[in-house]
Amino acid sequence: MENIPRVLPKHLGVEIDALKWNLPPIFRWIQKEGNVSNQVMIRTFNCGLGMVFIVAPEDADLVLKMLKINGESDASIVGSVVIPKTQPVVIRNFANIWDKPIVPELSNKKRVAVLISGSGTNLQALIDHTMDTSKNSAAEIVLVISNIEGVAGLKRASDAGIRTLVIPHAGKKRVEFDMEVHDALVSAQIDFVVLAGFMRICSEKFVNLWEGRLINIHPSLLPSFKGMHTHQDAISAGVRVHGATVHFVDAGVDTGPIILQEPVPVLPNDTPEILQERVKLEAEHKIYPLALEHLARGDVVYDYQNKKAVWKL
Ligand code: GRF
Repeated sequence: MENIPRVLPKHLGVEIDALKWNLPPIFRWIQKEGNVSNQVMIRTFNCGLGMVFIVAPEDADLVLKMLKINGESDASIVGSVVIPKTQPVVIRNFANIWDKPIVPELSNKKRVAVLISGSGTNLQALIDHTMDTSKNSAAEIVLVISNIEGVAGLKRASDAGIRTLVIPHAGKKRVEFDMEVHDALVSAQIDFVVLAGFMRICSEKFVNLWEGRLINIHPSLLPSFKGMHTHQDAISAGVRVHGATVHFVDAGVDTGPIILQEPVPVLPNDTPEILQERVKLEAEHKIYPLALEHLARGDVVYDYQNKKAVWKL
């Protein structure tokens, strides 16, 4: 027994699935009454995960049985020891164990949904910003929806304790799919919808329903280089400056009122891939969190009459 280490070796971490433990109602009450974000709930309270035994996989069932025999009827296997890819402790599905979203009036943060289809590096920048308690963000990402199963962005969200939803588009009419997304957004009481690498063109019906509360990031300095191949187009055109734009979404493609833009240089040996990386790192990941913050704080609003972005600063 004395040879068993009492702390996990540094290169190991634990991955826990919140769906596998019982959440006592007191924690839901604390979260609601205290307007506490999921991240702070996990960091501050044990949320019913009172004591954790780390045992060899082959001993797990026996240890569980012994605990139950000795009166710990709630004991369950909640996770495993892993070689961590991100943080040493990952809690999955934390957002999914609350039966209802927090009542919005109790939270002064704007409830944000991010729609993705892929790697989600912009989503990550948004998560990092909104969850950084030192920034006291006015926005909280409470839902991430992907139209494609298994994409890396979904893992980024669940690693951060954010509820995820996959709504496949295959075999559905555009409006039918959009209305499914709309229903999910409404039932999660979403204030703002952020498109982050969401590879779908939204129907006019959806855009009208979310007009002024729906934003997108496009990898060019709009109105230059609309469409899918912006980095190749910028190189072919020989421009020396390229960049990214955050804009409100309207019924056109890459045409809505501009909120923020950020330039990056185009360098002589750039390939589309190199340029894309620079645009993401130096422009997109910088202005998307900033634009969301301004929107959530009401620094920039959508003028419904003139269809323009209006700054209050
Ligand atoms: C970004 O370049 C964004 O501007 C565009 O799609 C890409 C998504 O990348 N709309 P990621 O999934 O955020 O890494």
